[in-house]
Amino acid sequence: MDLNELPVRRPRRRVESVAEPRPDGLASLLARKIVGQPSAVGKIVPYIQMFQAGLAPEGRPIGIFLLLGPTGTGKTRTVEALAEVLHGSAKNVLKVDCGEFQMEHEVAKLVGAPPGYLGHRETHPMLSQAKLASVASEKSNISIVLFDEIEKAAPSMTRLLLGVLDKATLRLGDNNTVNFEKTLIFLTSNLGSRAMMKHLSPGFGFEPPSVEDPKHTSDRLDQIAHSAARRQFTPEFMNRIDVSITYEPLGQESLQVILDQHLADLQTHILHRLGARGFRLHVPKESRLFLLKRGTSAEYGAREIKRTLHRHLTQPLSSMIAEGRIEPGGSVHAELSGDKAELLLRAA
Ligand SMILES: Nc1ncnc2c1ncn2[C@@H]1O[C@H](COP(=O)(O)OP(=O)(O)OP(=O)(O)O)[C@@H](O)[C@H]1O
Ligand SMILES: [Mg+2]
Repeated sequence: MDLNELPVRRPRRRVESVAEPRPDGLASLLARKIVGQPSAVGKIVPYIQMFQAGLAPEGRPIGIFLLLGPTGTGKTRTVEALAEVLHGSAKNVLKVDCGEFQMEHEVAKLVGAPPGYLGHRETHPMLSQAKLASVASEKSNISIVLFDEIEKAAPSMTRLLLGVLDKATLRLGDNNTVNFEKTLIFLTSNLGSRAMMKHLSPGFGFEPPSVEDPKHTSDRLDQIAHSAARRQFTPEFMNRIDVSITYEPLGQESLQVILDQHLADLQTHILHRLGARGFRLHVPKESRLFLLKRGTSAEYGAREIKRTLHRHLTQPLSSMIAEGRIEPGGSVHAELSGDKAELLLRAA
């Protein structure tokens, strides 16, 4: 039969447009968790959809992503957020800290020693099929693998990775092969981030160059990150990466959203964990600005927010609970001291 003669069937369901993501769809869920990095979400989601639709090419991982950019901008958070959305927990990630594989002999930990070698029985390869399966879930058969700080890995590890990236297979020391066709592979690196920061704040202080148009700045940061990556990795390696994404330093607005999210998480935690002893936490705008100033910087991005909340809220709240100073079902107000140098907690 001539294919051209096949009757054209009208799709019964409306085809979702890319421009209008469903509010409960992958892109929207991710965008809520990964603040201020729309291009990251936009570049990753299509690969997952292609796999879920059954249209991903065979014999390759679902997607290979190189995440570049300064510290505390959401690279690792992206991978965790994806695990939360796909599997319901940020823990469903097989993470390889490449800093632990800087020496050639350490690479055996990834694939296990061949039979007959000393210690063969004791080496459990980190990248086995069982380990991949253990990070998939009932919700999704996709395994997420993260190679963190890839620039620190020994050259033999990047060579080993070439096969995984290219054919989705890895041969272990015991000659078994591991199939990576149902995996999303993320490689993260800070390569070029120093130069990126320098571009943004050539002098002292961290004011971004206000005269430059934001699109131009993004393109320039992207170029800086890419040329650093190309200097570090071989062309074979770079060619196997599907998408590289440059994370941008987070603006004040994004940092504020992230702080608000952390405060909301803390409140949820207080209500869930403490049950009947739970209480309401009130953090007015002025106190939030205080926390924002201490927890964020151009240099460390949002990295210090958690620690700041710990120091100024979680720890003092814990002492108040221990001393019985908070009424169950009551409330605590976090207010600035008169000299605005401290956050004071007042139980009401
Ligand atoms: N874009 C973001 N959206 C939401 N939270 C963020 C974002 N960026 C950073 N954070 C917060 O800051 C913390 C540190 O960020 P993350 O671990 O993603 O940094 P990173 O980019 O991987 O940095 P590094 O290069 O140092 O590994 C996260 O756990 C999260 O709480
Ligand atoms: Mg990280």
